[in-house]
Amino acid sequence: MDQRLVALDVEDGPAAIALADNLRDVVGGFKVGSRLFTTEGPDIVRTLSRSGGRVFLDLKFHDIPNTVATAVAAATSLGVWMVNVHAAGGTRMMQAARDAARDTAAREGRTPPLVIAVTVLTSMNAAMLDETGVHAPVLDQVLRLAELAQAAGLDGVVASPQETALIRQRCGPDFAIVTPGIRGGAATGKKDDQERTLGPAEAIAAGASYLVVGRPIIAAANARKAAEEIARVLKP
Ligand code: C5P
Repeated sequence: MDQRLVALDVEDGPAAIALADNLRDVVGGFKVGSRLFTTEGPDIVRTLSRSGGRVFLDLKFHDIPNTVATAVAAATSLGVWMVNVHAAGGTRMMQAARDAARDTAAREGRTPPLVIAVTVLTSMNAAMLDETGVHAPVLDQVLRLAELAQAAGLDGVVASPQETALIRQRCGPDFAIVTPGIRGGAATGKKDDQERTLGPAEAIAAGASYLVVGRPIIAAANARKAAEEIARVLKP
């Protein structure tokens, strides 16, 4: 199973579909985030899923359990392959998300999507976390929330590649770890606004299950060639 997921962080639906058509056979799936979803609505997810691509719906739900459950149920009916929530929403919210995915999928005869949790956003540092009333070091909070997500029955977490090895150690081999912040190596050295980065081969070696790659592929002069180059370094 291909581990590279391409973030379709582009301005509109036609641009996203053109990119997906260009890359579909050389990557493992596509991430639809808040920007594209807010611009295009659920039709973009239906279109991408119908063309055979795996879609990670990255809307990071964080609300009361009933609201999150109904949102995850709607995402399941859309046919997404993976969906995420914020672990900070707590155990009951995460369990409600997991149950909604399973129940909806069973009712509709689908495979349930993977439900994963965001721990601490990679844009946050210790001072920002402290302002929110969380006085623990970032890594401790990431590990705490990863373990909470696992105990709630979720399939995995989103984490910076630099946190991946410790999460893998704590949560075992079957827990999915999805890592953005891929830079360097075959993914170009330009960091953009990412701080805690690793190259693609290094992130996989640290235990990542899936890599989310945006600009190193979508902003490359030849997106397909950039995706193929990353695939080449990941081959054992
Ligand atoms: O262009 P780049 O490779 O930095 O894209 C990374 C993608 O992963 C973006 O869509 C970004 O929103 C997302 N992401 C992230 N860090 C997180 C969660 C999601 O960079 N903690």
